[in-house]
Amino acid sequence: IMKTLIKGGTIITASDTYEADLLIADDRIALMGADLPAEDAKVVDATGKMITPGGIDVHTHLELPFFGTVSSDDFYTGQKAAAFGGTTTHIDFVIQAKGESLHQAIENWHKKAGSKSAANYGFHVAITDLTDEVMDEIPSIADEGVTSLKLFMAYKGVFQVDDTTLFKSLMKAAEAGMITMVHAENGDVLDVLINENVSTGNLATEYHAYSHPAWAEAEATMRAVALAGIAGAPLYVVHMTCEESVDQLRYGRERGLPVMGETCPQYLFFTVDNLCQSDGAKYVCSPPVRVEKDNEYLWNALAAGHLQAVSTDHCPFMYEGTKPIEYEGEQYQMAGKELGQGDFSKIPNGMHGIEDRMLVLWTYGVGKGRISPNKFVELTATNPAKIFGMYPSKGVVAVGADADLVIWDTEATKVISWKNMHTRTDHNVYEGWELIGLPERVYVRGQLLVHGETWNGEPGGGSYVRRSTHAQIV
Ligand code: URP
Ligand code: ZN
Ligand code: ZN
Repeated sequence: IMKTLIKGGTIITASDTYEADLLIADDRIALMGADLPAEDAKVVDATGKMITPGGIDVHTHLELPFFGTVSSDDFYTGQKAAAFGGTTTHIDFVIQAKGESLHQAIENWHKKAGSKSAANYGFHVAITDLTDEVMDEIPSIADEGVTSLKLFMAYKGVFQVDDTTLFKSLMKAAEAGMITMVHAENGDVLDVLINENVSTGNLATEYHAYSHPAWAEAEATMRAVALAGIAGAPLYVVHMTCEESVDQLRYGRERGLPVMGETCPQYLFFTVDNLCQSDGAKYVCSPPVRVEKDNEYLWNALAAGHLQAVSTDHCPFMYEGTKPIEYEGEQYQMAGKELGQGDFSKIPNGMHGIEDRMLVLWTYGVGKGRISPNKFVELTATNPAKIFGMYPSKGVVAVGADADLVIWDTEATKVISWKNMHTRTDHNVYEGWELIGLPERVYVRGQLLVHGETWNGEPGGGSYVRRSTHAQIV
């Protein structure tokens, strides 16, 4: 048995803050208490440091084929980046190709992930083609530990499903104890607006935002909330960006519907002004970044419990994909945001975040008094674990839980640059931002994967997380 004794740290959970020694035995937390004896354990002094559960990012797209290219982090580089940012578990979206079975789609993602992964990962599955066979197949994917479905209400002609599909799968998922997730934007409306702007020559990057209005998100959110209400099905609305849509979620929650939602860091910090910059393509994601009042509204919604989680929608692309970068001594080149030069509708949609999320939320959320340290843990780890069937083995610092832990040096500082981050891309939207408080040691199932700037992980060393059904409504 490999033992590590972490002494004198301040444990932060979603509900408590207290000092305790913590003994890791192999991959679990074996014991917590005052003055635990070292015996044969390796001792780590965490006096004055903070200990949180490892972050859980329930919304990522590693190596996703999209917009004629592929997102630039794979399961190795993405999980390495995650770990450096204090995130030890992520859930990636398997996307069903048309005509494919869900089992086949999941198998494809296992092939992508298995030999590369370095941390913990699970899968959701996005249905794009709901045949009768797929309907029958839904309950059985829970046996593989995939207990959440995703439906895109946007990306017409690519991933978008109609209301029949959404409603049927909501009912089927609920029956099987699974949760349904939606990308809530009215894709038919977006399609009209995008085509109209392109054909009138409104091609500048900011027209991405004007073609994805807040009310298109609000409408789809209300529709999904209402359909979940009719089906009596749990619903999780991904990447919520604005007051208009969160108000719809609140309307459902206040009436007792089992509906929840997340936002992502980019929606807390950026606005359409960023799209107007000369490098605006870096900020193109769907739904788009909005306006300042929405940044403020979302912070308040997080603090007040109107939103239940912060994920990332990590889907990085290169900014200048015509030029290679070096990653771990190897050249990497992939088409990226330059595909949309001169036409906003061709810019690959997506931003990085898996490494940045915990860091910017700590400095600019907790550090600025917008959320408490306990709320930070709740939003980044505990609620994600509860909602997606991983609690209490993950998302909490407690005896018996997996030893996915972050020891934070709350006084350490760093200025973000894409060059000192580990996400495989050629830019960082937080370039130049100052961080106060950084992960010093990151344990994944008891293994010290990150220690300061040192990386101890390796491709293939990660583990697939089987998630349970009937997760919590928080
Ligand atoms: O722009 C985004 N969000 N890209 C990733 C795919 C999605 O919609 O989540
Ligand atoms: Zn989406
Ligand atoms: Zn996404």
